[in-house]
Amino acid sequence: MLLRYFVLVHILLVVSCSKKVGTNPELAYSDSALFDSTQNSNYQYYKNNPGLLLSGVHGPHGTFKLRFNSIAYKALTDSAKLPLNTKFPNGSFLVKDVYKNGAIDIYAYMYKRNGNWLWGEVQSNGKFLFKAVDGAKACVGCHSQTGHRDNTLVFKFY
Ligand code: HEC
Repeated sequence: MLLRYFVLVHILLVVSCSKKVGTNPELAYSDSALFDSTQNSNYQYYKNNPGLLLSGVHGPHGTFKLRFNSIAYKALTDSAKLPLNTKFPNGSFLVKDVYKNGAIDIYAYMYKRNGNWLWGEVQSNGKFLFKAVDGAKACVGCHSQTGHRDNTLVFKFY
């Protein structure tokens, strides 16, 4: 009986200690969970067109397709764009599939959590180029060049 109690307490301790805790609660949302989300095949493509491969000449990434989860997609109403001066709701996920030689090379994404974007960039093999923590530094400067569409840029060019 006592042994069983000891084992139970031990299991609880192990579980609670292995839980991931970030210093900034905003950034505790795990990068690996966001990477998993890039693999979701149910997202909707920009302009509802899975074949829409865009040149990307205005940005640093190159040729790309853009996908939205359902929360984000519902926010698009102005001819499939985010209406000017509005924001994506919490839970929105936008993923830019960056193509190289006909295959996805990199995923660049934005995830809306507690009113802020978490940014990340990861290679298709799972190797991170930018995690949420440094994504903010690497991405916001350029993305905030026009503040009218919640730090997104695609709607300005396409
Ligand atoms: C030098 C400017 C620049 C930097 C830096 C930049 N981006 Fe972008 N990004 C763009 C532009 C421009 C677009 C619009 C599509 C295009 O032309 O490629 C874009 C589009 C996107 C989109 C599609 C949604 C949208 O905002 O239109 C995502 C997601 C994205 N970028 C993620 C990132 C991430 C993550 C980083 C940082 C690791 C980053 N970007 C850094 C310029 C930039």
